[in-house]
Amino acid sequence: EPKNPLRTTDPGTIEMLKVAQENKLETVFDRFVAQQPQCGFGYKGICCRICLAGPCRVKAEDGPASRGICGATAYTIVSRNLVRMIAGGAASHSEHARHVLHTAHELVEGKTKDYEIKSPEKLHKLAEKLGIETLNRDNMEILGDVTELAYEDFGRYKDRPAAFLDSFLIEQRHNKFLNTNIMPRNIDGTVTELMAQTAQGVDADPVNIIFGGLKGSLADLVGEYIGTNLSDVLFGIPEPIVSEANLGVIEEKMVNIAVHGHNPVLSEMVVGAARELKAEAQKAGAEGVNIVGICCTGNELLMREGVYLATSSASQEMAILTGVLDAMVVDIQCIYPSLTQLCDCYHTKMITTEAIMKVPGAQHLAFNSETAMEDAKKLVRIAIEAYKRRDPKKIALSKTRNSLVAGFSIEALTDIFGKINPERPFSVLTDAILSGQIKGVVQMAGCNNLKRQQDESHVAILKALVKNDVFVVATGCSAGAFAKMGLMNSEAVEEYAGEGLKSFIRQLEEANPQLSTKLPLVFHLGSCVDNSRGMDLVQAMAKELGVDTPKVPFAASAPEAMHEKAVAIGSYCVSMGIPTHVGTMPYLEGSDLIYGIATQIAHDVFGGNFIFEVDEKVAAQKILNALEYRTWKLRIHK
Ligand code: SF4
Ligand code: FE2
Repeated sequence: EPKNPLRTTDPGTIEMLKVAQENKLETVFDRFVAQQPQCGFGYKGICCRICLAGPCRVKAEDGPASRGICGATAYTIVSRNLVRMIAGGAASHSEHARHVLHTAHELVEGKTKDYEIKSPEKLHKLAEKLGIETLNRDNMEILGDVTELAYEDFGRYKDRPAAFLDSFLIEQRHNKFLNTNIMPRNIDGTVTELMAQTAQGVDADPVNIIFGGLKGSLADLVGEYIGTNLSDVLFGIPEPIVSEANLGVIEEKMVNIAVHGHNPVLSEMVVGAARELKAEAQKAGAEGVNIVGICCTGNELLMREGVYLATSSASQEMAILTGVLDAMVVDIQCIYPSLTQLCDCYHTKMITTEAIMKVPGAQHLAFNSETAMEDAKKLVRIAIEAYKRRDPKKIALSKTRNSLVAGFSIEALTDIFGKINPERPFSVLTDAILSGQIKGVVQMAGCNNLKRQQDESHVAILKALVKNDVFVVATGCSAGAFAKMGLMNSEAVEEYAGEGLKSFIRQLEEANPQLSTKLPLVFHLGSCVDNSRGMDLVQAMAKELGVDTPKVPFAASAPEAMHEKAVAIGSYCVSMGIPTHVGTMPYLEGSDLIYGIATQIAHDVFGGNFIFEVDEKVAAQKILNALEYRTWKLRIHK
């Protein structure tokens, strides 16, 4: 097979790359090639820049050059570098969560009129889970207590576990995390401790460092639980919803605004403002305002509002190349600073909105929850103004758009399974596994990473799994890949699902005639913070089977992991007892010991382990083997 020189397999992106090439516009795909060969020391994780005596590299097998100046060996350097990535990931997810939390708090304090408790049902469920009294209490009062507890989870100094993790854990995992000393009591303190632990001249013991990292990964999960649950309270619990994805959703006749990043706090307002300002857009000559999502902001809006998903992370630049994107509104994370360079060649306005996220060349509009709707309207008006300055010669529309079904929160899945067994909804899933109708559950997650051709591994692994009757849930840019490629709909079930999976999905459909749509091949759980929903799913299955998570036929896969956030997510998946495939190598090959801890020793301690495999066919087989082993053991013990 000839190698695809484009480094992407997404049809919408391929269309736009031709435009980039014709117009000599630089994209991420060019910069990836220009970076080759990448640094071998960095790749192996054996370059240390933690103190100013460095940078030190492990240059020899033995002798003085086998250590840093201070004497740090490869395993110390590799583990320090690795867990500092986890600290970065935990900080990222938690800052996102803190922003949602501040917004909820301002709502309680009466400081914002633009937000509301959209789902009192979720608020009550969450409060009960956290042990907060709900009987005869006002919703705002309950939310007040929930936000107080969440703030405590950021800074608690007393010795008790973080509530937004512990309340969601089954007893066996709770005990495991306490016994192995990785249960975090707060987020901020855990991230700080990890930075202190890995500073020059502190921890040199790789096992202790890795355990510190795992604690950091659980702090990441605390942040995700806060982010997901409070977003559901403020913006609603996702329910099955129909929409479309890929660059063709950017329409010539509309004022197009891309909302890109991760945080729904701003983008939910932009959706509202777009509806209100339709007349202004029409006055400017457009038919209306079209909000399209990129990356996880896109996933958040897709899940709750059915907003179109324009594209995922590696192809974010392509949205501008259509020539009809009027504004690129960004919040935080996964936003290429290169976007302004392309906006300069078009009429597109790039607007940053958060205090910690500015890009030279972009306009900054500080977004406040007190003036949320006003700010959102300003953003929409900037886009309407830009619309008038489009250059017709630069218009190059994409024809690619695919239908999809998203919106599968745990609550939505509970409803769907509950139509078959109302008392024990998740037995529907576990019984299907025990009977052999399906082979298990896989959570596909993570980013794009141009070390792989964009989306190729996501798609290849999904196809192999569903063909072998695996029930697949997905988040983030993995879900984005499936949505863009037309794999997240009912037609894809017909085309790609094995007989067992097909009959399982059809059975769910028959039991749920109230659904306005048929069910998809892969079930969208939401954005990257919504990987927390997957942790609820695996634990619901464990409860149903009466076992701890390491016995559940459940695996995770991040075929194109890229961000520090992905390192944190992968690490908590392993701590949660899940076999976790990663298709792009983290920087750890410089230490056999660390490689062994990640792939084997972790399994002995937590029941989960990393499966590093860059070949997607082999990876799919390894994931299937892990599921099969667990099912085999379950059947023996039943
Ligand atoms: Fe070198 Fe040690 Fe400083 Fe790292 S901490 S840069 S290995 S002297
Ligand atoms: Fe994401």
